[in-house]
Amino acid sequence: MLIHDMEEILVNEEELRETIQKLGKQLTEDYKDKNPIVICILKGAVFFMTDIVRAMDCPLEIDFMDVSSYGDAFESSGEVKILKDLDQSVKGRHILLVEDIIDTGRTLSHIVELFKHRQAASVKIVALLDKPDRRVVSIRADYTGLQVADKFVVGYGLDYCQGYRNAPFIGVLKEEIYK
Ligand code: PRP
Ligand code: MN
Ligand code: MG
Repeated sequence: MLIHDMEEILVNEEELRETIQKLGKQLTEDYKDKNPIVICILKGAVFFMTDIVRAMDCPLEIDFMDVSSYGDAFESSGEVKILKDLDQSVKGRHILLVEDIIDTGRTLSHIVELFKHRQAASVKIVALLDKPDRRVVSIRADYTGLQVADKFVVGYGLDYCQGYRNAPFIGVLKEEIYK
């Protein structure tokens, strides 16, 4: 069982639901007249994406981008690769980027610049988790679920070597698993 590999449960299912409902209310208010394109940054944000758009009670479109900076390694490589781009133009559109976590900030700063260059009307970020202690590039989310300490977290989309994404909670991985 996945839970046996956890040192502790950081965010349980109930806390995830509450956090996302709260973010959804704020986003509904802010985007009700904007018909935004809500963009999921694969793969980590996939579960957060499906929950956050259903917590937004307003017209919107969804799209997906696959960007990778970590690969299968434990530490960020510092290199951001676009593996799958959008299928449409974003010129003049309001963009809401959905991320599971901001760590060094490299992935998002790269994508934000890209959308500004493509002349989006606005580019904002909603991140479920934020690890401010780890920042290398200065960037902050416009909407943040929870701040977390610098521990290796997995579950609800977040992986270690592509595993644990399907855990319905967010947990801290036992050191013996990755050492
Ligand atoms: C992880 C996470 C964020 C990014 C955050 O993705 O999902 O997208 O790293 O790190 P950063 O702030 O240091 O850029 P990863 O590159 O591991 O790909 P994945 O989403 O497919 O797991
Ligand atoms: Mn990711
Ligand atoms: Mg990853």
